[in-house]
Amino acid sequence: MAGKLRNIIEDLARDYLNSALTLRYDICTCPICRNDMLAFVLSRVPAKYVTTEQGALHTIIQQSRVEHQAAIARAIIEAIDTISKKPRHELKEDKSKIFHLLLDKIKEDRGLDFSHYHQELLKRRVAIRLRSTGISTYSDYLRTLMNDPSEYDRLFETLCINVSEFFRDPEVWHKVAGVLKKIIQEKKEEHNPFICIWSAGCADGEEPYSIAILLKETFGDLLADFRVEIYGTDVDDKSLKTAQKGAYTKQFLKNVDKTLLAKYFDYEDGGYCVKKEIRQMINFGYLDLTGPEHKQNVDIVFCRNVFI
Ligand SMILES: C[S@@+](CC[C@H](N)C(=O)[O-])C[C@H]1O[C@@H](n2cnc3c(N)ncnc32)[C@H](O)[C@@H]1O
Repeated sequence: MAGKLRNIIEDLARDYLNSALTLRYDICTCPICRNDMLAFVLSRVPAKYVTTEQGALHTIIQQSRVEHQAAIARAIIEAIDTISKKPRHELKEDKSKIFHLLLDKIKEDRGLDFSHYHQELLKRRVAIRLRSTGISTYSDYLRTLMNDPSEYDRLFETLCINVSEFFRDPEVWHKVAGVLKKIIQEKKEEHNPFICIWSAGCADGEEPYSIAILLKETFGDLLADFRVEIYGTDVDDKSLKTAQKGAYTKQFLKNVDKTLLAKYFDYEDGGYCVKKEIRQMINFGYLDLTGPEHKQNVDIVFCRNVFI
């Protein structure tokens, strides 16, 4: 007797849809909406039936996964977008409105205005905090922030993605060296000894330290004729503390060759500490780029990967 017929596209779509919805606190993911999304996907991707008795079922499922996953993933994106905009029921909470209330609350309490940030990315980051705190709605999360302001520290750590490294994207730094040469040449011609460089959103300090090392390497003793000021600013206090310390593990230094490592770093306690001559070239401090204050008379501003 033939076994039961099973649409393996449906199994795959259900799996992918469940993962795609894991961190989506910003939309309705109730069973009705999930079902609608699944139906939408199945209307886009042709069914593939197997019988439960068919030999090598596992291999068939694997092959189908490889063959159809791109089409299923595309249909899922479309399904989530379409169904979440028009759920078949009233939403108890207007998620988009409450999310904006949450951003307003952050601005009111901590002065940080996230309204210009990439909203989808922000929602995904906030979702990480919701998940860790076991909260399922933005309104409950708002209440948590009111009752336990220490949650702000954890939220900011999650929102202010502060990953960086020394000489991140090495090809950019070749160009930076060219720009610095031009600036020094102009300053010489103008008999102006002041050079001001600002790393805005400096994370743990890798960027401003890379600038200082590049200046030393490119201009050597000539730098003594100039008054160089490098500012490293950020909104993440924890990052600023790390930056001031200037101690890093090897993973942040993969673009620094052995000669530079020996010249500008001291090996201490299993890590690398930026030498004092480089550390004292930088002034670190808190500065919120969404606020009214900014540095004046700057020759170059580095603002890379900040409003991501
Ligand atoms: C991914 S890191 C980039 C570090 C470095 N600029 C680079 O390109 O490698 C982004 C940094 O921007 C900071 N940042 C985000 N919003 C900011 C704001 N409004 N004002 C200042 N810094 C901000 C974060 O705290 C984080 O340390």
